[in-house]
Amino acid sequence: MYLLKRARELQQFLRTIREEGKSIGFIPTMGALHPGHLSLVDRAKQDRHFTVCSIFVNPTQFNDPKDLDLYPRTPGKDIRMLASVGADLVFMPPPGEIYPPGLKTGLDVSFGLLDKVMEGEFRPGHFQGVAQVVKRLINLVGPDALYLGQKDFQQVALLRNMVQQLGLPVRIVMCPTLREADGLAMSSRNVRLSPELREKAPILFETLTATKDMLEDFHPEEIEHFALGRLSIPGFKPEYFEIVDGNTLQPVEDAAQTNYIVACTAVWAGNVRLIDNLIWKSPD
Ligand code: PAJ
Repeated sequence: MYLLKRARELQQFLRTIREEGKSIGFIPTMGALHPGHLSLVDRAKQDRHFTVCSIFVNPTQFNDPKDLDLYPRTPGKDIRMLASVGADLVFMPPPGEIYPPGLKTGLDVSFGLLDKVMEGEFRPGHFQGVAQVVKRLINLVGPDALYLGQKDFQQVALLRNMVQQLGLPVRIVMCPTLREADGLAMSSRNVRLSPELREKAPILFETLTATKDMLEDFHPEEIEHFALGRLSIPGFKPEYFEIVDGNTLQPVEDAAQTNYIVACTAVWAGNVRLIDNLIWKSPD
C-alpha cells in the first residue's frame, strides 16, 4: 500500500496508474476508521478498481469548532486497517495541500433545497464544506467511481447533485450502512459515548424500524411526531425525524404516490450527535 501526502505526488502517481489501464475507485474519509469505512474499500476492490482512500479532517465542514477539536484522530491505526483490507493507496494531506493559499478552492454551486433541510438546517455551512473538499479531492484523484455510505444519506444526495451540475465524469456508488450487533450505525463519533448512553443508542435504529409500518395508516407528520416522542428518553434529545422523498429530500406528503421514501433522524446523545436513516421504500 502506498502512502502519499502531497497533491502533486498523488497526481503524478495516479497518472501512471491510469496509463497502465487501471480504473480508480475513491473513498474519501476523515479517518478514525471503523468497519463501515472498510466496507467501502472492500466494495471498490470487488469492483476491481485501484483503490484510493483519503484521510483528511476537513475543517470547512465543521460548523462547530468544538466538534472539530473533539473529532477522533487515529492515523496509525487507520493506515494499518487500510493495509489489512488491501487498499492500494492512502492519501493523507496536510491542510495546505487541500487549500493552498492562492488557489481558488471555493464552489460555485447552489444546491437549492437539498442543503437547507435536515443536516443543512441544523449544521449551517456543513454541506458547502463537504462539497468543497470532495470537489477538490475528485479533481486531484480523478476517480472513475466514488464510494459513499448510505449512513450519510443527505451527503450522497448532495454529492450526486454536485457531480451532475459540474458534469464530473464519476459514478457514485452508495453502500449500505454497517451496524453494530445491537443496530447502532457505526460512526467515528460512537467512541465518545458514555457507557450508559452507548447502551441506549440503538434507540435510533429501533425507532426507524418500528415506525416503518405506520406508513400505511398514518400521515408522515403524525409518524414524525410519534418518533420524536419515542426518541426523547433521558440523556437523548432528538433534533429531527423526517420522512422524505429520497430524490428531493422534501417531506413526503402522500406515501402511496412516492416511490422513494427515506426516514432520517439526528439525535443528541449527551454531547454526541448521532445520525441514522432507513430506506422505507426503494425505487429499485
Ligand atoms: P466520514 O464520516 O469519515 O465518512 C467517510 C465515508 O464513510 C462516508 O461516505 C460515510 O457515509 C461512510 N460511512 C460512515 N459510517 C459508515 C457506516 N456505518 N457504514 C457504511 N459507510 C459508512 O463523510 C465524511 O467522512 C466526510 O463528509 C467526507 C465525505 C470524507 C468529506 O470530508
